[in-house]
Amino acid sequence: MRRSVVAGVGHYLPERIVTNADLAKQIDTSDEWIRERSGITQRHIAADGEFTSDLASHAARKALDAAGMGPDDVDLIVVATSTPDETFPASATVVQSKLGCANGSMGFDVQAVCSGFVYALATADNFIKAGQVDSALVIGAETFSRILDWEDRGTCVLFGDGAGAMMLKAEDGKGTSNDRGVLSTHLHSDGSLHDLLYVDGGPSSTGEVGYLRMEGREVFRHAVTKMSEVVVEALEATGLNAEEVDWFVPHQANKRIIDGTARKLGVGADRVVVTIDKHANTSAASIPLALSVAVGDDRIQQGHLVLIEAMGGGLTWGSGIIRW
Ligand code: UT7
Repeated sequence: MRRSVVAGVGHYLPERIVTNADLAKQIDTSDEWIRERSGITQRHIAADGEFTSDLASHAARKALDAAGMGPDDVDLIVVATSTPDETFPASATVVQSKLGCANGSMGFDVQAVCSGFVYALATADNFIKAGQVDSALVIGAETFSRILDWEDRGTCVLFGDGAGAMMLKAEDGKGTSNDRGVLSTHLHSDGSLHDLLYVDGGPSSTGEVGYLRMEGREVFRHAVTKMSEVVVEALEATGLNAEEVDWFVPHQANKRIIDGTARKLGVGADRVVVTIDKHANTSAASIPLALSVAVGDDRIQQGHLVLIEAMGGGLTWGSGIIRW
């Protein structure tokens, strides 16, 4: 059975760090409120002239280096983003050009907001399993700072900019949960919940980019339930149980959501990767960023079972199990 095996990961964060105290100087908020309600202490913000495709390309180069592969080895690029440089073309094609990938490679974007990386991984995995490509660069990259209403304290303190990338390559496995690679992915959406989390603009509606709008409390409620359900779905599909999972790498939206979901699943804090304190919510970039951090400090090792899960605007949600 063809499997999509992780060959390397990488990440990039813009240089500029904005702390909670910095924000408290500009809007009516406090370090204490942000820390207690979300677990965030700081976020990285892209520089003027630094675009999503720049962040994505930096992260992608690191993933390729880690894999010992080069731009000519990339068959497919899938970028998960809700903040592309331009309405079109897809950020993936911009990244393809910036990396100098060979003619014959292809790229497109996937838009599922904070679940974007799980959707992009599922897409790339299915292209590999179908035999259409032998390798894929899966990237989550965002400059959410550009779609925040910096006067809305209920949202602007929660997000940050960044990118993470994962290089996948096809390998033959036995078709069991001991195989290395992506073992299963599970995706869902419910468009009737649009009003809970959306951007109030776009090319076809207002003609302007718009700002992020969120019913925080309602999103929170859905997040814990839906992410717990989709994790159970992934475990049942693979015949694995929560005790066998080495690392839970959830979307980083709120430390309280991460803790609540882990508690519901009976997973101890020592097996959960948390980066929200330093990165804030980087939407589609949060999971690959967290994966890259945990590989970089040797927590995630070859052979480990890694479970990812996310929920975002749409609403969309999903999970994936990867044998590293
Ligand atoms: O990644 C996509 C998915 N997104 C999420 O999962 C986010 C989900 N939601 C959340 O993380 C939380 O709901 C928030 C962190 C957004 C908010 O936490 P909360 O405990 O649900 O607070 P709240 O919205 O109920 O607001 C509580 C109070 C309000 O004041 P009153 O009405 O009780 O007087 C807000 O006006 O906190 C006030 N408030 C703030 N105060 C200081 C809201 N934002 C701020 C702020 N600083 N930045």
